[in-house]
Amino acid sequence: MARLAVDLPRIAKYVNAGIVALLVLFWYLGVNVSSGYHIGSAIFLVLFLLNFYYRHIQTKHALLRNFGIIAQARYMIESVGPELRQYLYASDVEEKPFSRAERAEVYRKAKDIDSSEAFGSLLNFDDEEIKLRHSLYPVDKKNMKKYSLTFGEERGIKNKYTIDKPFIVSAMSFGALGSNAVRSIARGVKAAGIPMNTGEGGYPKYHLMEKCDLIFQIGTAKFGVRNPDGSLNGDKLRDLSSKPEIKMIEIKFSQGAKPGKGGLLPKEKITEEISELRNVPMGQDVISPPHHIECTTPKNTVEFIKRVQDFSNLPVGIKMCIGSELEFRNLIKEMKKQKVFPDYISIDGAEGGTGAAPKSFMDNVGVPLFRALPLVQRILVEENVRDKLKLLCAGKLINPGKQLTAMALGADAVYTARGFMFALGCIQALQCNRNTCPVGITSHNPRFQKGLIIPDKARKVANYVKNLEHDFYELLASTGCKSVKDLTPDKVYIPKNAPCVRK
Ligand SMILES: Cc1cc2nc3c(=O)[nH]c(=O)nc-3n(C[C@H](O)[C@H](O)[C@H](O)COP(=O)(O)O)c2cc1C
Repeated sequence: MARLAVDLPRIAKYVNAGIVALLVLFWYLGVNVSSGYHIGSAIFLVLFLLNFYYRHIQTKHALLRNFGIIAQARYMIESVGPELRQYLYASDVEEKPFSRAERAEVYRKAKDIDSSEAFGSLLNFDDEEIKLRHSLYPVDKKNMKKYSLTFGEERGIKNKYTIDKPFIVSAMSFGALGSNAVRSIARGVKAAGIPMNTGEGGYPKYHLMEKCDLIFQIGTAKFGVRNPDGSLNGDKLRDLSSKPEIKMIEIKFSQGAKPGKGGLLPKEKITEEISELRNVPMGQDVISPPHHIECTTPKNTVEFIKRVQDFSNLPVGIKMCIGSELEFRNLIKEMKKQKVFPDYISIDGAEGGTGAAPKSFMDNVGVPLFRALPLVQRILVEENVRDKLKLLCAGKLINPGKQLTAMALGADAVYTARGFMFALGCIQALQCNRNTCPVGITSHNPRFQKGLIIPDKARKVANYVKNLEHDFYELLASTGCKSVKDLTPDKVYIPKNAPCVRK
């Protein structure tokens, strides 16, 4: 059977000859019939010269050199490929990193519209997908225990912090997000009654405007709390921690999208304001170091955690993506030795998102969440320190099913970043690193930001949390658990071929 394929050489031959023929024709008509035809002559002269340049002068693109201007069509079509696939060809469950079906669930929750669907699930029911195990005896919702989690209780500190919903907005800096996005999320979570992580963007000017509860993140560049040599400035940390909105501090060791590499803010996104808030120059990428200057061994890493606890007088957590199991265990052993524990550990799965990261890191480094979480839980139990701290996690946990699964596998609460971006209306255009986000979430360009109306988006964020909580309790009740504390790994069905357990 003949193969249906584009015969590029033949098409190119006709196009290249056609340009010359039409140039001659318009020229002839312009000279002999009417000078108006010279508009056509001018157009085809430009195409002819461009084609000549592509085929005989430039040396970078083999396709253009071999076939001329028609090869440009390939580049153009390729550049709109993601949009074509998203709008026309991709099915509801195949887009990445989040399928349309997954995103639609968040959009509906954010719009507060009925999220029921008809006929049947679009997901696979094969031997790879993790599912929750329901009970024959679901709990009556009025008998369920309200969720509550207190950070800092293990150390008995004065400034403990309690949350009463198991969801937290994961770190996203002002810089990665534009000001309207930050303020919309901050206002929404204030209404919903959950905290928001500031990300590593330095002084949280826009987060503070909305007076929501904040977790201030110290990234490896320590924007906002930094000495000129890159070490921690304890006085600045103490000042920031005394703000009533700042409830906890998080030390970021690594992030799932780029573990082993520091943060990255591309130069396109560095406005005058960001350059001031972070104390960095404009016009060049801002690359944070891959580790805290103070932290090169388990010993000095634990000492650093202790210093942050002492300067801030707040609960202090650490965030990391798991790499080496042995390194993690050694860190825990050192904590035991020094009798110093962070108030929480947050595990970021390798599938985590980012404003910008090298593709080689995004695709290749770090342990995915549903592998890392049971491993961390096991090590904490084996080392007999599980009751010394709380365990949080993140990694595509944007819906209640995934969130409950993570909690059954050991997490006390869950973080999500992209869930909240979808609540704001993110269309997964994958342009967070370019300042061109079409819905203005990750752009500082006023042209795109003007689409983000803060009161409207804040309402959507609050709706998202409200509906997450509703579904969360419904699912929890179906497992037969009265409280999240009763959730155990046996409430999850993990088929032996699930990617997270497959050898
Ligand atoms: C736009 C964007 C900006 C982010 N900025 C930070 C950051 O400043 N610090 C950090 O630790 N993680 C950052 N992250 C990672 C998230 O906090 C989170 O760990 C990760 O995306 C996994 O959660 P998710 O799958 O729910 O998005 C960012 C993620 C996104 C999408």
